[in-house]
Amino acid sequence: GWRTPYIYLFQGFWCQPTEIQAIISFQKHFQAKDSDVVVATIPKSGTTWMKALAFAIANRHRFASSKNHPLLTSNPHDLVPFFEYKVYENNQVPDLSKLPEPRFFGTHIPYPSLSNSIKNSNCKIIYISRNPFDTIVSTWHYLNKIKPESAPELTLEEAIEMFCKGSVGFGPFWNHLLGYWKESLERPNKVLFLKYEDLKADINSNVKKVATFLDCTFTVEEERGGAIEDIIKLCSFEKMKELEVNKSGKSIKNFENKNLFRKGEIGDWANYFSPEMVQKLSKVMEEKLGGSGLSFKMLS
Ligand code: PPS
Repeated sequence: GWRTPYIYLFQGFWCQPTEIQAIISFQKHFQAKDSDVVVATIPKSGTTWMKALAFAIANRHRFASSKNHPLLTSNPHDLVPFFEYKVYENNQVPDLSKLPEPRFFGTHIPYPSLSNSIKNSNCKIIYISRNPFDTIVSTWHYLNKIKPESAPELTLEEAIEMFCKGSVGFGPFWNHLLGYWKESLERPNKVLFLKYEDLKADINSNVKKVATFLDCTFTVEEERGGAIEDIIKLCSFEKMKELEVNKSGKSIKNFENKNLFRKGEIGDWANYFSPEMVQKLSKVMEEKLGGSGLSFKMLS
């Protein structure tokens, strides 16, 4: 059935055959430059938002006016393409050497399976994570939106079971988090580990943090001129959801952009989880993340 759409364990994580092909090609061919920026996530953790923010922050001098900014006519997934869906899809090996720098890429690939050239260069990785409860609810809604009409609805219970067992795209979820988390502790200049909940609580300081991480700290003049606020507005859920390109466009084959914008909040899980579900997931979360130093804000 579509619920387990031919998902395979590949290099210790779960993905589909078309993804595996592209990932192999990526691992073989991708040559990182020190100026590259890679936005890494497990699906439904804030990928679209972070891609938009990183692109807008690093390119703010190139696109000085927010009036004809590319983010008004393109989806973030066009501007920051996934290695495994866009760049290396269909066995293509594109010439990326001429792209304007900094080059931006996105990926759901777990840290250990990134190409050596990414690991060994000075390119930067921004990882955004999200509390597992909201990630599951977001994934559950999304899977039901993109399923074939004839297929039965995925229940929340089933979605939780998938996460707990580990068999979700690019999962196990916990391994994905911990892979980037450990690397961020060892190499803080290489991997910036962010949380969706922190961005929701204080977007301003997180935008500054990203800028400094990317070696383009906002000047006092820029701050006074409202450059940070402009970027926050440009990348906001409300703004992006209403753009024509995000209402009717398709940036990734077979996926409609409109499905990338649902609610954009912390704690929506509380509207769906039964006490038993909370207990079950909390237990697994404690088993998997306990002792790692990694924790999440669960409610806004
Ligand atoms: S994907 O398919 O992996 O790229 O999806 P991803 O972008 O990681 O996750 C989608 C969820 O992020 C919410 N979203 C946003 N939140 C805040 N600000 C902005 N700009 C934004 N854009 C997308 C989106 O609504 C999904 O979360 P839920 O909880 O389902 O609403």
